[in-house]
Amino acid sequence: MKLRTLGKTGFKVSEIGLGCWQLGNNFGEVIDTEAEKILDSALEAGINFYDTADVYGGGLSETRIGQWKSQLAKAPIIATKVGRDGALYPDKYSKASIKASLQASMTRLNVEVIDLAQLHCVPREVLFDGEILNWMAELQQEGVIRHFGASVEMLDEAMFCTKHPKLATLQILFNVLRQDAIEELLPTAAENDIGIIVRLPLASGLLSGKMKKNQAFAESDHRNYNADGAAFHVGETFNGLPYNKGVELVDELRPMLEDGQQMLELALRWILDQPQVSSVIAGASRAEQVIGNARASALAPLPLQLHHQLAEFYKERVRGNIRGGI
Ligand SMILES: NC(=O)c1ccc[n+]([C@@H]2O[C@H](COP(=O)([O-])OP(=O)(O)OC[C@H]3O[C@@H](n4cnc5c(N)ncnc54)[C@H](OP(=O)(O)O)[C@@H]3O)[C@@H](O)[C@H]2O)c1
Repeated sequence: MKLRTLGKTGFKVSEIGLGCWQLGNNFGEVIDTEAEKILDSALEAGINFYDTADVYGGGLSETRIGQWKSQLAKAPIIATKVGRDGALYPDKYSKASIKASLQASMTRLNVEVIDLAQLHCVPREVLFDGEILNWMAELQQEGVIRHFGASVEMLDEAMFCTKHPKLATLQILFNVLRQDAIEELLPTAAENDIGIIVRLPLASGLLSGKMKKNQAFAESDHRNYNADGAAFHVGETFNGLPYNKGVELVDELRPMLEDGQQMLELALRWILDQPQVSSVIAGASRAEQVIGNARASALAPLPLQLHHQLAEFYKERVRGNIRGGI
């Protein structure tokens, strides 16, 4: 597993990380033994970077990571998020309320300081007010967190965050089916020494290549209840694509695969070929998936001509279908 520097944190993180939303049972139920297997497999595959949030399963994801971590000789790097819990969201943000949420995360994660705390898609007006980033910087100064970053929905929000001198990381939606960050955001983040963490690398599983039209998802799975954005931002489920359209678009990508190449290899490799990306936090609901995803680190970069072809495909076929803005 290759490592990359995560912006101002200076952490050397695995270029494939583990997204732990699934450990909160938000993609259907993951039982305790499987959750532990997912985490163990990640560590064995060389993954040292884990992304979670206080709200995943009402704290279950953090609790599982905290319990697992306490058995390890060397703790991996854990990034959590703050800002979507009812105690703060949508309009109760203050330095004190953020600090209290972070302290609850510390207890669940079983740590004395948080490696990386990311604002979790806070409302635009709260972010653009600017004060919330300063509170995070103060909490860093006070030693509650080592570093802070922001997870955002929109590119203009990401660009706004790049102006804060202490912001260490940005977590963005970025994949073959959402390519816009290449133009301005990635170079600006690199200039400002901000580490890019990529979420939804497989567009909620579409880019694994295994999904079929009209597939049903469990009631507890956000790909059921948020397929059209009924519960939270539509972009967070299937990348904002209507599900059947997403399956069709992935089918259109199939002729671009080389012999024996899997769709998810193309998808993960495409992201890793962007030098400004620090870590791709692929989510997994089964341990085998983690192992498959980790292998992308060892694959050769995609040919330049394929990158051009994929850029064209995105502009012509995909972009106009994304709901919720970019
Ligand atoms: N607002 C935010 O900050 C925010 C929002 C969303 C996500 N995130 C973070 O980003 C992480 C990644 O995003 P995501 O999990 O939503 O989407 P993702 O990584 O694009 O997709 C994950 C899903 O893809 C499928 N999959 C993964 N590896 C596979 C493999 N090797 N073979 C076949 N299928 C595979 C699994 O689907 P099945 O479960 O159907 O098998 C898995 O649940 C999350 O876990 C979370 O940590 C943050």
